[in-house]
Amino acid sequence: MRIFVDTANFDDIKKAYDMGVLSGVTTNPSLIAKEAGVRYEDRLREIADYCKGIESISAEVFGETAEEMVKEGLAFSEIAPNITVKLPLTPDGLRACRQLTDKGITTNVTLVFSATQALLAGRAGATYVSPFIGRLEDVSKGSGIELISQIASIFEQHDIKTNILAASIRTVDHALEAALAGANVGTMPYKVIEDMTKHPKTAEGLATFAADAEKYKKNLK
Ligand code: E4P
Repeated sequence: MRIFVDTANFDDIKKAYDMGVLSGVTTNPSLIAKEAGVRYEDRLREIADYCKGIESISAEVFGETAEEMVKEGLAFSEIAPNITVKLPLTPDGLRACRQLTDKGITTNVTLVFSATQALLAGRAGATYVSPFIGRLEDVSKGSGIELISQIASIFEQHDIKTNILAASIRTVDHALEAALAGANVGTMPYKVIEDMTKHPKTAEGLATFAADAEKYKKNLK
């Protein structure tokens, strides 16, 4: 499972990228709204300039009709070659997905809560499909991960090339289970990426090594 960071906060994006683990960034209207006074296009440009070589930066459309979404998507795609246009799973969103895909623009169909929605996104040519596992797990434990497994099985049986992008990951366990269930990508806040570096035995081992390094230095004197 490749790692994307789910934020529009530039400091968090830099921390994830500088760690050397990052393959992409996902943003949405709620995330950019937290960055008071920042223009969406400017933030996307900053991310593209800083995060050299990443596969995808998702930029979500605000429009509701396919025409509006295509227009916004085309404008986003001018910002950088790795911009991915993020579209909602609605009939208009799917229409826009097909049109943008046919123009060679990468797409991410979002707000997916069922395997049949994911099947439609795959058939509309989406590059990524985003099942929201955290929001499902909030209402019924296990259902978010079960959804990833169902989509993975359908995509494999029917040879659908769309990447499964497990979204709304809130915990290390969500990341683990999504990876085991067959997600190609997981998008998560920086805090979850940082939590994934942690283990009590790592902390314990580090403390022992630090103490022994001091002993070693003393013995040399
Ligand atoms: C991803 O593309 C979504 O923007 C995001 O993961 C939603 O996460 P949330 O449910 O924590 O808002």
